[in-house]
Amino acid sequence: MKIEDLKKAAAEAAIAYIEPKLNPDSIVGVGTGSTTNYFIDALGAIRHKFDAAVSSSEGSTARLENLGVRVINLNAAPRVSVYVDGADEVEPGKALIKGGGGALTREKIIAAACEEFVCVVDNTKFVDQLGSFPLPVEVLPMARSFVARSLVELGGDPTYRDSLITDNGNVILDTQGLNIDDPDSLEKAINNIAGVVTNGIFAINRPNTLVMASADGVFIS
Ligand code: 5RP
Repeated sequence: MKIEDLKKAAAEAAIAYIEPKLNPDSIVGVGTGSTTNYFIDALGAIRHKFDAAVSSSEGSTARLENLGVRVINLNAAPRVSVYVDGADEVEPGKALIKGGGGALTREKIIAAACEEFVCVVDNTKFVDQLGSFPLPVEVLPMARSFVARSLVELGGDPTYRDSLITDNGNVILDTQGLNIDDPDSLEKAINNIAGVVTNGIFAINRPNTLVMASADGVFIS
């Protein structure tokens, strides 16, 4: 099975999973990335079953609005019933690395604000331990060099993601070589570096539900 077919299968299974939970007042949180794009396309078809979406990126907002889904600011959302997003890596305890698409800050805010976080992936994203995928760290531009040196002190090897300015006007350091055997602690440690806006470890607010597609079918846990 092609990877695009697996992403689509996971996204469509996520729609089937959330649809019975939706009502006319529901606000749906929407992530960013190629897997999430399949989710958005399927969400457009059931747009009459919920009130509005909150979105984690300008790109997802444009895709949602093109399909007729109303997108509101998170500040205007009394509650976010469910948030659906992809990941770059997921480990058995459902801690994630995210941010390959550069939308990690808004993604992490919605993951923290939602009532249920549903992660949709194909099984190539499943790993025993996080860290093969370079960890994205969003940084205020003036702090880039200082944060890079601090990440080296933590054992990392950061690379400036050239030519990307995030939706929040910041830059990204993709960091290889970190030992992520304790995702919660490393997430906090990196958050504590002055100038870091967000890091791509999603452990403190990890998904409640994982929807993972493989050639053997879709598995929900
Ligand atoms: C964007 C993300 C994406 O969810 C992550 O990069 C996975 O993307 P894709 O579904 O395209 O593999 O975190 O910031």
